[in-house]
Amino acid sequence: MPTFSVRPSPQLRGQVTIPGDKSISHRAVIFNALAEGTARIENFLPGADCLSTIACMRALGVEVTRDEQFVTVQGVGLRGLGEPGDVLDCGNSGTTLRLLSGLLAGMPLFAVLSGDASLRSRPQRRIVAPLRALGAQIDGRADADRAPLAVRGATLHGGSYELPIASAQVKSALLLAALSGDDSLRLTGKIASRDHTERMLQAMGIDLQVRPDQIVLHPPTHPVFPYPLSLRVPGDPSSAAFWWVAAAIHPDAEITTLGVGLNPTRTGALDVLQAMGAAITIANRRNEGSEPVGDVTVRSSQLRGTIIGGEIIPRLIDEIPILALAATCAQGDTLIRDAQELRAKETDRIATVAAGLDALGAVVEPTNDGMGITGRSGPALRGAALHSHGDHRLAMTWAVAGLVAAGETTIDDPECAVVSYPGFWEELAVITR
Ligand code: S3P
Repeated sequence: MPTFSVRPSPQLRGQVTIPGDKSISHRAVIFNALAEGTARIENFLPGADCLSTIACMRALGVEVTRDEQFVTVQGVGLRGLGEPGDVLDCGNSGTTLRLLSGLLAGMPLFAVLSGDASLRSRPQRRIVAPLRALGAQIDGRADADRAPLAVRGATLHGGSYELPIASAQVKSALLLAALSGDDSLRLTGKIASRDHTERMLQAMGIDLQVRPDQIVLHPPTHPVFPYPLSLRVPGDPSSAAFWWVAAAIHPDAEITTLGVGLNPTRTGALDVLQAMGAAITIANRRNEGSEPVGDVTVRSSQLRGTIIGGEIIPRLIDEIPILALAATCAQGDTLIRDAQELRAKETDRIATVAAGLDALGAVVEPTNDGMGITGRSGPALRGAALHSHGDHRLAMTWAVAGLVAAGETTIDDPECAVVSYPGFWEELAVITR
C-alpha cells in the first residue's frame, strides 16, 4: 500500500471495538516478567511497538507466547533476566527503550538498546541523567542523549528526584530502576502523567505510595513480584480519539467506541471535545482490572474553538494531532500551548501537524510550544497529498481529515499506523460503508 486515498464519505456509522491500550500492553509484558508464575494478558495490543517489547523481553530470556486470545508471560523474577546476545531492537517505541533502560540499569548484565531512525533521533538524557543519579552506568551517542544506549548494570541507590517534565516514560524508567535499588526512591515534581505503572505495580504487590505531590517506591525485599497480574487490557483512548473526532467533525455521523480505557490520566481529549461542544455520551462504565472502562459514543457536532494548555497537556499529549484537526472544523480560534513535548515525539508534531493542516488549507500558526488554529471562519479543508513521515498518529489524523476535506486526500506510508493501531484501515472501510 504505497499511498492510501480517502474521499469524504456521505455518512459515518458504526461500533468500533478499540484495540488494547499501548501503554498498558507494554507494561503488562515487562512487569509480569518480574513476577513468579504465569500471567495471561487478554486484548494485548499486537501493534508494532508492543511486539518490539515482546521481542526484547524474549531476548532477555523471558518466555512470552501469543495465541488468538492471550499473550502469556512466564515470570523469571527480578534476578532472572539474562544478558541479551545482541542489540535490543526497540523499533519505533520510546516506551520500550526508556522503560527497559531503567529496568536493566540495576541488573547484572550489559545491554545495548536501539531502534529505528525516529527513535534514534529522540532525546534520552531525560532518562539517562536521573538514572545516573541513582548510580546507573549508561552511555550513548550525543553525550548520552541519543540511542543506541549502552547499559552496564550497576548497584543502584535510592534517593529523591524531582521530575522536570511530565513524562510517564521517565517516571516509569525510574520506578523500574528503583526496584533493584538498595533504598527507597521518592519522586516529586511533575509526577502527574499517565499512572498505569503505579496502578499495575501496586496490583502486583509492590510497596508503592502515591500522593498528589510524591510517589515513593520501597524496593521489594524478595527478588520477585509478589503476584503476577493477569488482566484484560482496556481499549486505548488514544486510538479511540480518531473515531471521536471523525464523528464530531463529520456532518452525518454516529460512532460508538467500545471498551475504551477511561483512566482520568488519559481522558483529556474527551474533556476538550466536551468543552468544544461535542455530543458525547458514555455508557456501560465498569472497571477492568485496575482501570476504568466504558463505551463512548460521539455524534456530529458543531464544535467551538478552545484553549488547550497547562495541566491538561499530559492527559492528551498523544491526541493533540487529531484535536488540532478538530480545531480546524470548529467555530472560532483554538490555541494549543505548553505542549513543547510534541517536539520530542515520533516526529516533531508541532512542525508536522502544522505542515499537514496547512496543506489541507487550514490557517495554522506553529509556536514554540504548540500552535494557533483559525476555525471554520477560515477556508474549509480541501483534499491534499499528505505525509505521515512514518508517524502512526499523523497517518491516522490525515485519514480522518480525508473524511471531511473536499476532493481526494492521499496519505503516504499508511502502514505506519500498525505501530499503535493494526486494523485501522480496515475499520475505516467499515465505518464509511
Ligand atoms: C507513554 C508515555 C507518553 C506517550 C507515549 C506512551 C507511556 O510519553 O506520549 O505514547 O506508555 O508511558 P512521555 O512519557 O514521553 O510523555
